[in-house]
Amino acid sequence: MSGRVSVSFRLNGSDCTAEVEPRQTVADLLRAMHLTGTPVGCEQGVCGSCTVIVDDDPARACLMFACQLEGRSLRTVEGLATGGRLHALQEAFDEEDAVQCGFCTPGFLMLAAAALEHDPFLNDDAIDALVSMNLCRCTGYGPIRRAIRRAAKEARRAP
Ligand code: FES
Ligand code: FES
Repeated sequence: MSGRVSVSFRLNGSDCTAEVEPRQTVADLLRAMHLTGTPVGCEQGVCGSCTVIVDDDPARACLMFACQLEGRSLRTVEGLATGGRLHALQEAFDEEDAVQCGFCTPGFLMLAAAALEHDPFLNDDAIDALVSMNLCRCTGYGPIRRAIRRAAKEARRAP
């Protein structure tokens, strides 16, 4: 398929327009835009390393066409810290040593950020279900679960 199309969307809070191939994925577009914080692992929707937030919900960037972003809001790990401060999840992943090689980390951060925005009262069962959506080959999931639990406590304290 040939011919590029123009797509306009919000990217980490700013208006953005890009020319994309009809078959180009969001993951490929982010690479082309030099936003390399979204790792691409399996490229088939399984590992979750490419998780971003689209219109407040987590999405696999490898499974979504860039042209589907028209009129929508895309958030990536590059937009998670605001005002020079790390997001509570980033702080918590650091505190709980929830990062080893780090390949899965942006995906878990974005997955958990969307979940906590929807429900800061995530219980342990909900956190278990959440972390089962993405793959990590290093940490054993315990530290990731503890980090999300810690960030949830912070989110509940926030004004
Ligand atoms: S790279 Fe997208 S789910 Fe694995
Ligand atoms: S920290 Fe290495 S894959 Fe999760």
